[in-house]
Amino acid sequence: RMKDEELKCIEDLSRKIEQSSHIMVISGAGISVSCGIPDFRSAGGIYDRIQEKFSLLDPQEIFDLDMFKENPEMFYSFAKEIIPKSTEPSLSHRFIKDLERHQKLLRNYAQNIDGLESAAGIDRVVYCHGSFSTAHCLRCGAAYTLEDIKEDIVQGQVPRCSRCCEEESCCHPLPIHPDATPGWDEEQSSNSSTVVAPNVIKPDIVFFGEPLNSQFFDCFNSDREKVDLLLVIGTSLQVAPVSKIPLSISPQVPQVLVNMEVVGPSNHWFDLELIGPCDIIIQRLYQLLGWQQNEEQQQCS
Ligand code: OAD
Repeated sequence: RMKDEELKCIEDLSRKIEQSSHIMVISGAGISVSCGIPDFRSAGGIYDRIQEKFSLLDPQEIFDLDMFKENPEMFYSFAKEIIPKSTEPSLSHRFIKDLERHQKLLRNYAQNIDGLESAAGIDRVVYCHGSFSTAHCLRCGAAYTLEDIKEDIVQGQVPRCSRCCEEESCCHPLPIHPDATPGWDEEQSSNSSTVVAPNVIKPDIVFFGEPLNSQFFDCFNSDREKVDLLLVIGTSLQVAPVSKIPLSISPQVPQVLVNMEVVGPSNHWFDLELIGPCDIIIQRLYQLLGWQQNEEQQQCS
């Protein structure tokens, strides 16, 4: 049961949504928790499970590019636990789609790699941290799909590129394909002839040590001038550059947090903080906005 104060805050948010037509949504792992997908940093989350399994100084090392090149076995012995399984989006995913249907969504900056934004049909989405749906050979850049490497992932084995082995190019690295790693930066590209990358296939999720893909920066540079409401849902806001978005837009733009806990960069505060499970808060928002849930097939008036 919500307290009067909480209900009043949700009413405030509903009014802000009604008044806005360029809403930027930053979403994170918290919006998929109700789909049975654990988040990263909460107790019992993915990083706790990684810590139990490997003795790492920091569980985030499992997503570290250099570590991956040195020891892909570690990532692939865990990857089966994080490949997308659920195809049923949460109410929060569907709400972002409904913002789009009502022509209010400027962009969804999604940090998740579970693909549930696409399952909900959200078009105006930027997958800031890439996706598991495609993969590339680190050596020759050959493209693969999740289906191609799923069997290896499920078996806990490192998927290897059959194409560059067949071409006997393993000892003579080819130039890296431009899409091979979403964030392969200038310095690494120019050194690529000296980097003897193994013929390991890496999913196109953005690892620490890789910049985000250019779509993120292109969209954000244009969106930052247009946004009239920032909605941050289900993220600890700990990973840059997404964590810097709230500080990078005009202070005139209202900012609202919907999360289980108060988060955010230091010296920053949200105009409104709705603390609790996002689906419950969003359910109430639907009532206040007078929107139907499951509007999937209905046209927006
Ligand atoms: P985190 O696990 O860091 O944060 C999830 C946030 O969601 C936490 O603040 C939780 O309190 C909150 N939360 C959990 N359940 C919730 C619920 N039902 N309703 C509302 N809030 C809830 O996940 P992210 O912030 O998404 O990178 O993590 C950012 C990035 O760090 C991820 O994209 C991942 C990781 O390294 C990659 O996968 C490449």
